[in-house]
Amino acid sequence: MARHGASIALLDRLDTVADSATALAAETGVRAVGIVVNVADPASIESALDRVAAELGIATILVNSAGITSGNPALDTTLEQWTKVLTVNLTGTFLVSQAFARRVIAAELAATVVNIASMSSFVVNIPQTQTPYNVSKAAVAMLTKSLAIEWLRHGIRVNGIAPGYFASDMTRDFVKANPEMAEEWIGRIPAGRIGEPHELGELLVYLASDRSAYVVGQNILIDGGYTIV
Ligand SMILES: NC(=O)c1ccc[n+]([C@@H]2O[C@H](COP(=O)([O-])OP(=O)(O)OC[C@H]3O[C@@H](n4cnc5c(N)ncnc54)[C@H](O)[C@@H]3O)[C@@H](O)[C@H]2O)c1
Repeated sequence: MARHGASIALLDRLDTVADSATALAAETGVRAVGIVVNVADPASIESALDRVAAELGIATILVNSAGITSGNPALDTTLEQWTKVLTVNLTGTFLVSQAFARRVIAAELAATVVNIASMSSFVVNIPQTQTPYNVSKAAVAMLTKSLAIEWLRHGIRVNGIAPGYFASDMTRDFVKANPEMAEEWIGRIPAGRIGEPHELGELLVYLASDRSAYVVGQNILIDGGYTIV
């Protein structure tokens, strides 16, 4: 997004997010701010979006990407673990979208939302066990469709991306803890490799921009062919 000239507000619970924004601005030349937020906390979201508006103007593109995984088999999953995954992945996506939409509607601006779901919205990944994660991502896909219908009349276009396996901190940590996993994953991917973040970025730019003006409420798979075999 930055390489295409967008000003960027990075919102994350990590306290390194301001440094990430500074590095992004230096690399790309765009304006960028990093703001600590907890997507599960409405007050934290409100103050983060206020800061975005004060520093960069009201945001008109929202990418909901905050997410956590779950590792336990369903039989051993506690209510606390279940609730945590659903709260961040699903409720967090809803709360941030709602706060964002209220602002752009009040300002009578056109906007786009892109929700990062997962191919786990559609298939059960194996061999890992991650029932709460799969359920949360399936729900994010329906949230995307529902918000797309409710908000189209307000000039807000909502779509989703459903990635397969991509190189990120999340997958690196997971593979480190479960080294045999990467081999098994790659064996199941027709493309024969894990995706690189820049390959997903192009789709994100497309969905966030007017070039996709007639794409509404879709959850677009980008998975190296994983889900077609
Ligand atoms: N990497 C993959 O293979 C893959 C595949 C499919 C979907 N996804 C999805 O893509 C998104 C990004 O994942 P990633 O792989 O880059 O993982 P990641 O762990 O690198 O990034 C997720 C980010 O979410 C942040 N976060 C977690 N809880 C938060 C909270 N309560 N408030 C604010 N921020 C919070 C984390 O600090 C982290 O920076 C996630 O929604 C994930 O489910 C990833």
